[in-house]
Amino acid sequence: MPRVLIVDDESAVRESLRMILKGECEVHTAEDVDSALRTIAELSPDLVLLDVVMPGRNGLELLGELRARELETPVIVLTASNTVSIAVQAMKLGAADFITKPFEVDALRIKVRQLLDRRQLEQEVLRLRDEVSERQQLGSLVGRSPVMREVFRTVERIARAEATVLISGESGTGKELVARAIHDLGRHADGPFVAVNCGAIPRELIESELFGHERGAFTGATDLRIGRFEAAAGGTLLLDEIGELEPSVQVKLLRALQERVVERLGSSASIGFDARVVAATNRDLEQEVAAGRFRSDLYYRVNVVPIHVPPLRERREDVALLANTFIGRMAERRGEAAGQSIRLSRAALAALEGYAWPGNVRELENAIEHGLALCETGGIELEHLPIAIRRTGRAEALREDWRQGRLTFEDALSRFETEILREALERADWNQTRAASNLSITRRVLKLKMDRFGIEPPS
Ligand SMILES: Nc1ncnc2c1ncn2[C@@H]1O[C@H](COP(=O)(O)OP(=O)(O)OP(=O)(O)O)[C@@H](O)[C@H]1O
Ligand SMILES: [Mg+2]
Repeated sequence: MPRVLIVDDESAVRESLRMILKGECEVHTAEDVDSALRTIAELSPDLVLLDVVMPGRNGLELLGELRARELETPVIVLTASNTVSIAVQAMKLGAADFITKPFEVDALRIKVRQLLDRRQLEQEVLRLRDEVSERQQLGSLVGRSPVMREVFRTVERIARAEATVLISGESGTGKELVARAIHDLGRHADGPFVAVNCGAIPRELIESELFGHERGAFTGATDLRIGRFEAAAGGTLLLDEIGELEPSVQVKLLRALQERVVERLGSSASIGFDARVVAATNRDLEQEVAAGRFRSDLYYRVNVVPIHVPPLRERREDVALLANTFIGRMAERRGEAAGQSIRLSRAALAALEGYAWPGNVRELENAIEHGLALCETGGIELEHLPIAIRRTGRAEALREDWRQGRLTFEDALSRFETEILREALERADWNQTRAASNLSITRRVLKLKMDRFGIEPPS
């Protein structure tokens, strides 16, 4: 129950206010400003009803004190109807509202209710904001970008429901981890987590993989086989790469999801399943539907709760956190103490943050592994990273030097030109003819520029 403090020197007023409010809140009283301030410090009430004219220090002084102490307790000021100017003064000092005496019981109740409701909402918002700003992890997923926090929030919100979830996102963005987080936070956490990669199983086998088969259902079916739907009983079934399914399998899947039953191949007995179904895809399923490759009824059946995991290049704020998380995890795996964990140099981090990450988080994980394998004890430097990222790093460094005013315009241009020539040469394995042709310049011009900028093949 919200706490309300009544401050008035007349006990009759205190008692009548107590009677009016007692059903809706916990009522406390004080008869002067000093004891009111003590009670506020002790109880931090949600609302104060404050008489202005009192012997000793008056109500306005209390308002001043609250302000000086930066307390945001809302205050309703009680004034006699002939002292409206005092009410105005009180409002200027930060009172939330005022009521003139003698007050109407209903009007008073409504004002109190409104302020308490607003206060509760504000506190709820603050609490959520705190929780969210701290949350950089969900299961084994980490992320601090607003988009990933939104993903975390959605996962938490829907994990305990039964609705089918469709997780979309480019390869390597973390879709499988999201599915696992849904499982771990859901009601089926104690059950199995079964993942089927619909794209990796040959088309002749996918049906028996999903639904199982009876012995002798087809040539080669020498034994009874339990399908993944059944295997996931009491747990979660992840239909990964669902966009790869053949139309004939799509029909069967739709039926299974709608009726919550499956039939093993070679049998007409319906077996109920109680697994939670989560689907994932790196294709744009809506586009697949439009192109006639994916059934729209199945799409709607699966896409009850959509979760999109954005590509890493759209959430560069996550790169440093992810990179350091991977360094920590890999060190742990090698049995090193977390304390002596390896650092990323500034140039290396700048390169990681500037890179486009076509392979998303998986590529970042690999880049860190690469860096850890090459670096000595000190830390991961730019030169320990894969070549494509190193290139970004050099471009980043150039941009930074330019921003900091360390380069003239001419120098910036020649550094940039050097970068482009070097990259073309690297791509062509330092074959100058090929590099020149890719740059649409003659080999002679390329050679001249290489001499001018001092570009030499690595020894
Ligand atoms: N937010 C994250 N925090 C920590 N690790 C992550 C995160 N996202 C992805 N990873 C790691 O990156 C790798 C790729 O993730 P995952 O397999 O979940 O991607 P995916 O979207 O399912 O990829 P694909 O479409 O290729 O199957 C995994 O090793 C995973 O642990
Ligand atoms: Mg996956």
